[in-house]
Amino acid sequence: MNSTTTGSHAAYFTFRDQLLGPLRTTVLTGRQLCEAGRLIYGRPEGLSLYGIPAPEMETRGIQLLGRTTIECSIDPYSAAVADAVADLHTTTPQGSGAMVVDLFCGSGNFGLHLGRRLALPVYASEFDPVVHDTTRNNLDRIGSTVELHLLDYRDLLGKLPARSDHDTYVVEPPWGPAFTADGLDLTRTSPPVPEILDDIRRSRDGLPCYIAIKTNDQIAHDSLTRSFTGAQHLRTITPTPTLPHGANMDFHLYRLGSGANG
Ligand SMILES: C[S@@+](CC[C@H](N)C(=O)[O-])C[C@H]1O[C@@H](n2cnc3c(N)ncnc32)[C@H](O)[C@@H]1O
Repeated sequence: MNSTTTGSHAAYFTFRDQLLGPLRTTVLTGRQLCEAGRLIYGRPEGLSLYGIPAPEMETRGIQLLGRTTIECSIDPYSAAVADAVADLHTTTPQGSGAMVVDLFCGSGNFGLHLGRRLALPVYASEFDPVVHDTTRNNLDRIGSTVELHLLDYRDLLGKLPARSDHDTYVVEPPWGPAFTADGLDLTRTSPPVPEILDDIRRSRDGLPCYIAIKTNDQIAHDSLTRSFTGAQHLRTITPTPTLPHGANMDFHLYRLGSGANG
């Protein structure tokens, strides 16, 4: 790592602390969104959601909170995962009635891409009213059909019994204390990933499904494999890193069966 890179990475970590701290529930200005794009993805346009790059967000009426700007899955990453899921869905019978469920939707961008690519309805839950309201605004601005609920993910699961073995769930809980110097511990997210998977299994009455999950590129204590014990790993998508090891995103696809080991 050269000194310029080190300097920009230090600026990233300082900005990250602000976005998750004092600016956590503040709608960012156009200028701040461009700065986020530059520091996280190397250029202002690197931050792009709903097909709208950061330099255009303010004029297009898109609102992003500090926390969502850090937590979101940007367009190219979400689109790559949606392509991979579409590959797996090639055998979906027409009219299977499958659905996409974005349980911790934040910006809603991940579910949006999956729903569009798979041509399936999307149901999304977000329980922080401030995040929910900005996402509601954004989805309205772009004319999205994502069905957004101000709900705890468990309540959304309770409303959505399984429809098809091609149902796909997006699992992206906040990392909080799970993000440690040793890496991301998926058994310590809030709620822990194994607990979320159990909730999904319970809601499906034995029918298998697909799971898409985001991690960073440094997993602690083998916690991803341990969380998905018995499930089938299908793909891992690794976007080109823009930050130091441990701060970049990876995406994983799993096939979740019905039992405690699947
Ligand atoms: C990591 S972010 C998700 C980012 C999202 N995938 C995106 O692309 O913007 C996690 C989100 O889950 C929400 N959340 C946390 N606990 C929740 C719960 N129990 N039920 C529903 N939403 C929850 C948080 O408020 C936060 O907005």
